Amino acid sequence: MLSSENPTPGNDDQVSGHGMWSSRMAFILAATGSAVGLGNIWRFPYVTAENGGGAFVLIYLVCIAAIGIPLLMSEILVGRAGRHSPINSLKQLAQRSQRTWRWMFVGVLGALIGWMILSFYSMVAGWTLAYGWHYLGEIFSSTTVALDPDGKFDDLLASPGALIFWLTLFVTLSVGIVALGVEKGLERAVRILMPMLFVLLLLMVGYGMASGFFQQTLSYLFTPDFSKVDGNTILQAMGQAFFSLSLGMTGIMAYGAYVPRDVNIGKTAGIIALADTGVALLAGMAIFPIVFAHGLSTGEGPGLIFVTLPYAFADIEFGNILGFSFFLLLAVAAWTSAISLMEPAVAYLSESKRFSRLSAAVTVGVATWVLALGSVFSMNIWSGYTIGGKNFQELIEYIASNLLLPLGGLATGLFVGWVLSRVIVREQLSELSDGQYQLWRFLVRYVGPVLVFVVFLSAAGVI
Ligand code: PHE
Repeated sequence: MLSSENPTPGNDDQVSGHGMWSSRMAFILAATGSAVGLGNIWRFPYVTAENGGGAFVLIYLVCIAAIGIPLLMSEILVGRAGRHSPINSLKQLAQRSQRTWRWMFVGVLGALIGWMILSFYSMVAGWTLAYGWHYLGEIFSSTTVALDPDGKFDDLLASPGALIFWLTLFVTLSVGIVALGVEKGLERAVRILMPMLFVLLLLMVGYGMASGFFQQTLSYLFTPDFSKVDGNTILQAMGQAFFSLSLGMTGIMAYGAYVPRDVNIGKTAGIIALADTGVALLAGMAIFPIVFAHGLSTGEGPGLIFVTLPYAFADIEFGNILGFSFFLLLAVAAWTSAISLMEPAVAYLSESKRFSRLSAAVTVGVATWVLALGSVFSMNIWSGYTIGGKNFQELIEYIASNLLLPLGGLATGLFVGWVLSRVIVREQLSELSDGQYQLWRFLVRYVGPVLVFVVFLSAAGVI
């Protein structure tokens, strides 16, 4: 994967000073690792449930196709053309295009969003570790613990000590990998573990199919009822599309800097988006049959998978082994996403020369941990403090995912569509035919920005 043993000065457009992916496959794995994570398996089902199902899913898919894929290509190409951290790539490319260096603030915004997202993300990844540990215990205890999913989840949330323990473990693991540079070990792990997660998910979908509630699930997910849609639903669907594809916070741009010159950006972006969307839809098909079978509320919120899946694991033979594997693999998926949330800030700090890669990673890790305490406490001792009905964690998640990610994406789209020199852009997308290029350009220049803008206005109640 990214080999940092051999830092080549990043002063031409062939290599980055931070190292390079060893192949096209390595980049696809890393970017898919970034995209596929808690966003697909934890967030997609519960946000879909909160927004009434079918119509939300349809709008989400439209956002992926019309805004997501073109922007995914844009982030990769900015990274590869700039070959630096997102902040410095944006600055240098703006200057090379005879525009103001201030475009670098899009990168600053991205690094800040990454920090905000990583805070609550790490807490939730901590929940998955706690669940994995619980199932491991069940494997070794001869008694099958009678499972009360709701009670178990509530107990976990009520304990700041336990939450902080698992949070700290997860942040430490993420800092460790980012500090090492993304090395062969991770590439190998991702190559094996991600397909395993996929297979387990398919197994859970199989369980859902046998449950008698699969038909209901399909119509819930794929029959749009537009009477439930308002500006805020569309905003949430768009936010989820950005979140799931890791867009708008320059993480993919950071990874793009390490992409070899011969990689076909359009094709690669398509593969990443397909894998990401496939996993989200499968997660929905695995989880909703359980919700319906047990008469659970679709308004469970962030706890949805943590209170539904245990019903299935309690029911299936060897459920504790499956439960252990599932939550462990989910934690791995979260891990490969977390490192991309840190990479923009870490790359920038280490380029500034005052930080080594290690000290940059530790700094970002500590800052994340501190902010994450706010999310931890909002589950228990601070749960009474809310603004507009949202506690601290919900507020950070809403602002970062639904407002700032689309805003960052809008800015990136404007940069690539209107600021960056056309020669640079066309050269990066040389594999596209003229027709494909024109379509991409139209989507990036007009469709994306107008949609984001209109959705903002409508969610704010202006239109
Ligand atoms: N895409 C990741 C997921 O779905 C989360 C993420 C968001 C990662 C933004 C990087 C940037 O879990």
